[in-house]
Amino acid sequence: MAFLQLLIMIYEYKKQLDTTKDFILPCKKDDLKSIQQFLPIAKPDFDGSFSTHQLMYGETGNRIYLVGLGEEKNASQIENTFRKFAFETQKYWEDEIQVFGEFLNEDALLKMVVGLEMSQYNIGEFKSTKEEKKEITVSISSTKNIDEILVEGKYTGETINKIKALVDAPPNIKTPEYLGDWAKKSAKEAAYKCTVLKQKQLEKQGFEAVLAVGRGSVNPPVVIINEYKGKDSEKIDIALVGKGITFDSGGLSIKPSTNLHYMKSDMGGAAVVLGVVELVAKLALNINIIGIVASAENAVDGNSYRPGDVINSYSGKTIEIIDTDAEGRLVLADGINYAIKKYHPEYIIDLATLTGSVVRTFGYAAAGMFTNNQEMAAKMSEIGFKVHERVWQLPMFEDYEDDLQSDVADIKNFNGKPIEGAINAAKFLEFFTEKHEKWMHLDIAGVSFGASPYAKMKSATGYGIQLITNFIKEKAV
Ligand code: BES
Ligand code: ZN
Ligand code: ZN
Repeated sequence: MAFLQLLIMIYEYKKQLDTTKDFILPCKKDDLKSIQQFLPIAKPDFDGSFSTHQLMYGETGNRIYLVGLGEEKNASQIENTFRKFAFETQKYWEDEIQVFGEFLNEDALLKMVVGLEMSQYNIGEFKSTKEEKKEITVSISSTKNIDEILVEGKYTGETINKIKALVDAPPNIKTPEYLGDWAKKSAKEAAYKCTVLKQKQLEKQGFEAVLAVGRGSVNPPVVIINEYKGKDSEKIDIALVGKGITFDSGGLSIKPSTNLHYMKSDMGGAAVVLGVVELVAKLALNINIIGIVASAENAVDGNSYRPGDVINSYSGKTIEIIDTDAEGRLVLADGINYAIKKYHPEYIIDLATLTGSVVRTFGYAAAGMFTNNQEMAAKMSEIGFKVHERVWQLPMFEDYEDDLQSDVADIKNFNGKPIEGAINAAKFLEFFTEKHEKWMHLDIAGVSFGASPYAKMKSATGYGIQLITNFIKEKAV
């Protein structure tokens, strides 16, 4: 039986590095001078290039790892450097590994811890291979007290790993109910409130669009409502809404079978929402937020909703179904409308793996951003660059509205044309926002799941956790 070793990292800060033991020396490109005092030779074979590392041995035979941080433009991706470094060298680590942290600013320190945590992500959770856990102390030398940064980094990395595990989980296990149970467990651990609305409640409260999408599945739909109140007031500052399609077969407008297995990741938006609420609660931020997940399985069955159907929705507006594969916008329409009517949030942000169109437009490099609020757009864009979870804005011109007019219902769910796919979906969502002035939609279909050097097939990226948490942090002052 093979064993996989996972490290449980305990982060500590210490004032002085013990240079007789193993340590990591982070180093900027062409900046060896700053660490020369620690080097056993004058000119190592190393120039600090981004995401490279070099092992040297010190006087006692201790390991000295030089880790390349690269240039200023690489600063937003330091977690990748440490993730790769730890992934490749951790089998040689003993009970303690030190880091010379003096030249790392707060952002870099945070990202380093996030990266170290991310290196412990176990994609093979469902293998019969047993895992072995080993504790290791990562002690970071600094003259400043960096305890808070270390805690934030650890929580952030842990949350990223948890939501990646959710997105990578197989769809026979990850049903809507499973997402509900995940949220309940998380709420208990991180002390926030979680309500899971099941079939009967959804019927009673009129979540007709969620119910229509879920009708063809033996796994009934749910709506999850997570509430975190960090402030002593009733006002909800930010509502997050996530698309939680646990498997998207396309429904009766069935998808081709090539790569269909990847449609287990169609709950990437939901995973971000679940993760962010948990993280914000753990960080005890001074803010009130709610996280809504509208979850269903889009399956093929005699009971499935059909193209041509006219369905109702939480908002009371009727929808003509042109394509049952445009299901994400339907569950979101209910989630968004519910969040606005019930909670009157100041900001509302929805996240969804909504369209193939956004993948064709931006590839895996950025999420599509849609909003009528330029202030929000500017802030999200700035944070996106900072944390390397980039967004890029697409227009919301009125011109696109004609395309959604239905002869038989208030709106149709697809323009039926091979153009403007991501915009068309965003315009559909806008119809259910009650003209909310601080609403943003992020289409994360390209960025939440993709190729990685750590897996043979596409897998979850963890995109969105740092982006949204940082947006919330800025409002939590
Ligand atoms: N879940 C898909 C979008 C998607 C595509 C996510 C690729 C991740 C990777 C969504 O529900 C969908 O099927 N969208 C259709 C909409 C169309 C039928 C109007 C699309 O984009 O093709
Ligand atoms: Zn679909
Ligand atoms: Zn979908």
